[in-house]
Amino acid sequence: MLEIKELSVSFKRYETDASAFAAGLKQKDLHVINNLSVLVRKGEITAIAGSSGSGKSLLAHAILGILPANANVSGDMLYCGQVLTTEKLKALRGREIALVPQSVAWLDPLMRVGKQVVGINGTVEKQRAVFSRYGLDVSVDRLYPFQLSGGMARRVLLSTAVMEGAKLIIADEPTPGLSVDLARRAMGHFRELADAGAGVLLITHDIDLAMEFADYIAVFYAGSTLEIAPAREFREGGGALRHPYSKALCAAIPQNGFVPIAGTQPYSGAMPEGCPFAPRCPQKNAACERSAIPMREVRGGEVRCVCAA
Ligand SMILES: Nc1ncnc2c1ncn2[C@@H]1O[C@H](COP(=O)(O)OP(=O)(O)OP(=O)(O)O)[C@@H](O)[C@H]1O
Ligand code: SF4
Ligand SMILES: [Mg+2]
Repeated sequence: MLEIKELSVSFKRYETDASAFAAGLKQKDLHVINNLSVLVRKGEITAIAGSSGSGKSLLAHAILGILPANANVSGDMLYCGQVLTTEKLKALRGREIALVPQSVAWLDPLMRVGKQVVGINGTVEKQRAVFSRYGLDVSVDRLYPFQLSGGMARRVLLSTAVMEGAKLIIADEPTPGLSVDLARRAMGHFRELADAGAGVLLITHDIDLAMEFADYIAVFYAGSTLEIAPAREFREGGGALRHPYSKALCAAIPQNGFVPIAGTQPYSGAMPEGCPFAPRCPQKNAACERSAIPMREVRGGEVRCVCAA
């Protein structure tokens, strides 16, 4: 349904160190997404799991064609086999392709939320049914966004996306601020929509949630996908996974021992040559830092690591 091939996103920025000022301001490209490929199939949930700042929201915005004007985008994005052009996106956005945005700032501050969720094509009956599914009382319909708690606003955003009858749903961190029960209810709803034929791209930093509800998990790190594997392999403890970072992510969840990963993700302006995980990898060797590591197929998954077998 959605195929993203070799997507890269960069921003122009100006050098601000003293030497750059002395020589006049220099423009530099800041690469935030590098050669990212990911697939969302009809009837399936593909999760993109990555820590803060890894480029998850930029990916969602690139798919929807709503990146800021100073972003440079390259690569291919196909929707149902056809290239997603600006014109096509305009026609599909909010109808066939729906976004659950990460920030509640996306709600119109001057419109009552019930009316916002009904939108152009919806009905009040459907909006009420979706609200009551998420535990939003009928009195919420008449509230303005500033009158909502964080969790209520999150549920209103979810309602907007599931109202449309979209074929492809891109959910950018849809659950923060929700109780465990409501988060699971929202995920169960995505599962239902996928089972009814939609494709869902679930963007999250919550590997636990991705493991439980997704079909495939793409592990995202510093703007690259390091591994794409069936969610089942994550549920089974991570022994079958291919990349040292995915294995470390699995070991870091409470039920697998809460083992922390030493070090931090590199900043996009200071990316190492070769493997972005190299500064933290216990298996690093000379080949890892020489040049960019390509994605390759290993045991029914895909991995970006010279050592994976
Ligand atoms: N307009 C912009 N100009 C320059 N850099 C940007 C811009 N927008 C985002 N970035 C940078 O791109 C990187 C990825 O940002 P993004 O918002 O996609 O991260 P994320 O994975 O969604 O993080 P989070 O989990 O916190 O939502 C960050 O380092 C951010 O600073
Ligand atoms: S490519 Fe090298 S540094 Fe990167 S994860 Fe694999 S072994 Fe570690
Ligand atoms: Mg984000």
